[in-house]
Amino acid sequence: MEKFLIEGGHKLNGEVSVCKAKNCVLALLAASVLTDELVIIKDCPKIADVVSMINILESIGVKTKWVDGDIHIDSSNITDHEIPETLAKEIRSSIFLVGSILGRIKHAKSVFPGGCEIGLRPIDLHLKGLKDLNVIVTEEGGYIYFDGKNARGNNIHLDFPSVGATENIIMAAVLTNGVTVLTNAAKEPEIVALADFLQVMGAKIGGAGSSTIIIEGVKKLNGAVFTPIPDRISAGTFLLAGAITGGEVCVKNCCPKHMSALISKIDGVAGDIKAYRNEIYIKGYKKHKSVNLIETQPYPGFPTDLQAQITALECVADGTSIVVENMFETRFKHVTELLKMGADITVRDRAAIIRGVKNLHGAQVSASDLRAGAALVLAGLKAEGVTEVINVKQIDRGYYNFEERLRSLGASIKRVDN
Ligand code: UD1
Repeated sequence: MEKFLIEGGHKLNGEVSVCKAKNCVLALLAASVLTDELVIIKDCPKIADVVSMINILESIGVKTKWVDGDIHIDSSNITDHEIPETLAKEIRSSIFLVGSILGRIKHAKSVFPGGCEIGLRPIDLHLKGLKDLNVIVTEEGGYIYFDGKNARGNNIHLDFPSVGATENIIMAAVLTNGVTVLTNAAKEPEIVALADFLQVMGAKIGGAGSSTIIIEGVKKLNGAVFTPIPDRISAGTFLLAGAITGGEVCVKNCCPKHMSALISKIDGVAGDIKAYRNEIYIKGYKKHKSVNLIETQPYPGFPTDLQAQITALECVADGTSIVVENMFETRFKHVTELLKMGADITVRDRAAIIRGVKNLHGAQVSASDLRAGAALVLAGLKAEGVTEVINVKQIDRGYYNFEERLRSLGASIKRVDN
């Protein structure tokens, strides 16, 4: 068990480069199973969730190899259709593999997937979508069995634009006979990247990035070399780190056009922002105003994966803000920890009312999930005294060398054994 020790009060200054997006890479890894030819994912971050996904791929007979920063995936010899229980419980995105395994070998077996402890996170939309593709789904003894022998394209409407369900259905449909029209699909940039990747592999997909995606099944997909998109959530986290410390930070190798919801909330309120094609710069204010109201929404709305981090920022704002979490029921676990640091927050159902205080103070706090952990680190960078963030393995799931990157900006943060 490792923890971060953070001495707060240092302004962050300088440049930091972001890695490729975890959520993009996970979908691409799953999709790579759809071909028996070599797939190379360039510049792949070696973060814990990616390693877990690779372990799952290897457990079903996929051969993987790191070559410099790239991952080579050879799925020519899939030996199993079962996603192992212990591995599946580590990451929720193991459920995407059902779609790709089904597409490739027409049957699959899984348990209910794991991942962050942030709400009920059911998989009913995934299952309904697959059933609409005429996949027979049966549940027995805690396992879900999928039989896709007679799968065929269909019209599928999602009650909610779930990212995972959209990705899963796309993967299941690309090698399925007929045309699938998916309505109320998720529009996240990671969906567009997945569709781009599958198109490089020879899939026929139109409309990704809009709410209607059309997939015309093909017989076979070929190998591909593909570079994932930059991580908009990491980029946003570094931007907020600049804002909360009142520093000047330039986030490089990111895609500001994927970050409009965050930029429009904090520009002129927490700092002055300049966005270029692939970098973004913030000059944080000494004391920032509150943002008033933030509601998490599907893309292009404000991302739930930045809700905890902006909540940390609002703790030290001048004024009161309301943060409404519409995506996940119990995604306010960081609030209890922020209270230990002197924050003034009340949670009512899905809303957190945050009354800004002059400053936070150091305390021992625990990262309950990935983004909650990042938020506590941001709070620690600002707080007076030393903050101990325990359970950093949650943060390692999604941020590559987080503390080193923050140190390169002048943060005082070190990783120590508990
Ligand atoms: C993905 C991201 C996650 C992000 C989330 C929302 C990955 C690996 N993870 O998660 O970082 O926070 O999108 O942007 O890409 N839902 C159902 N039934 C389902 C599926 C989802 O009710 O079958 C609900 C969920 O409980 C949740 C909401 O829909 O309340 C959004 O979930 P979804 O978009 O599916 O998120 P994930 O794909 O799990």
